[in-house]
Amino acid sequence: MAVRLGFVGTGGIANRHLTCAQAHPDMEIVGTCDVVRALAEAAAAQYGGVPYTDFRAMYDAQQPDAIVICTPPFAHGEIEEEAARRGIHFFVEKPVAISMELAGRVWDAVREHGVIAQVGYMFRLAEPIRQARAMLAKRAVAMVQAHYYMPGMPGKGWWAKQSLGGGQLVEQATHMLDLGRFLAGDVKSVVGRCKQVRDWTPPAGWEPSGGLVGYWPEMDIPDTTALILEYASGAMGTLSCSLVPQVAWDNGFKVVAENAMLTIEGPNVRWQNEDGAYNAQADPSWVNAVLVEFVQAVQGQGTASVPYDEGIKSLAVSLAGYESVRRGGAAVELAELLPAGI
Ligand SMILES: NC(=O)c1ccc[n+]([C@@H]2O[C@H](COP(=O)([O-])OP(=O)(O)OC[C@H]3O[C@@H](n4cnc5c(N)ncnc54)[C@H](O)[C@@H]3O)[C@@H](O)[C@H]2O)c1
Repeated sequence: MAVRLGFVGTGGIANRHLTCAQAHPDMEIVGTCDVVRALAEAAAAQYGGVPYTDFRAMYDAQQPDAIVICTPPFAHGEIEEEAARRGIHFFVEKPVAISMELAGRVWDAVREHGVIAQVGYMFRLAEPIRQARAMLAKRAVAMVQAHYYMPGMPGKGWWAKQSLGGGQLVEQATHMLDLGRFLAGDVKSVVGRCKQVRDWTPPAGWEPSGGLVGYWPEMDIPDTTALILEYASGAMGTLSCSLVPQVAWDNGFKVVAENAMLTIEGPNVRWQNEDGAYNAQADPSWVNAVLVEFVQAVQGQGTASVPYDEGIKSLAVSLAGYESVRRGGAAVELAELLPAGI
């Protein structure tokens, strides 16, 4: 039986998941919900389902088996908790929240009601990255060097505000921090420095054109950040990220391990080790694998491999980075931030 899916937040990224669901025989789109009615209606018209502006009304009327949450970072909480209370499984886009307190509350609801909760860290499901993880598991990792550079800031008002989007570390570089954990295990402590290195004040007459922007009024997030990480294994790591406008998206890793040098560019991987060279490109469907795996888990086939508590652990790395900045560059232990039991 196809899984009956409701969508909450039908702005940008929801289109990826709606496109996947529309084409997939195991998924049926029963509802599309957005606080902006026109967006809920446009999604329903394009992909199917009934449009709503209130997620509770959608839960009441459609009784979905599962929901796909693509709201901005500040809008998490009740959507997940109410779903869990009703036994509705959920897939949630990263980051799971912008505060540890809220993420801990949702985690309690997930455990109390026993729902499946998968986080949209899609890089973990790319086959070349799985191969890389298996290769690294057999040897000591020394350095996990990650970066996330984007050629401007998404022109969505919430992105420019720390209290709404969480800042680049929480909102986006979280992909690399999560993947670092996937490749090299848990992070123990973080040291951070960040700055707004350029003036984002719009010139007179400037208007956002959609897509990435180079200006935003009263932007209060850093545009350039550097972290030093210490992994529980003893490995060291760094993360560099910036959204200062330049010419290319670029995210990935160098990983130095015993007798191995690994490079990750997006979902693609190459390495050299004592057995020779390896080079693999991800299949084009790789971005959908994290949602497909979730739906299969809801159907009772296999498990959701990116559970909610993994999302919490990755959020904690980002929050530790900003906490270190607040403490003037002192190292912040992850154990200080994580809820009990994680
Ligand atoms: N995995 C990825 O590659 C990827 C890519 C882009 C975005 N994302 C994540 O997806 C999330 C959404 O990003 P986006 O770019 O689609 O944002 P967006 O602003 O384009 O869309 C979010 C939508 O949620 C709606 N919304 C807000 N509060 C709501 C509520 N309470 N109920 C219903 N709808 C509500 C907004 O009206 C908006 O249309 C972010 O957390 C972002 O980090 C992930």
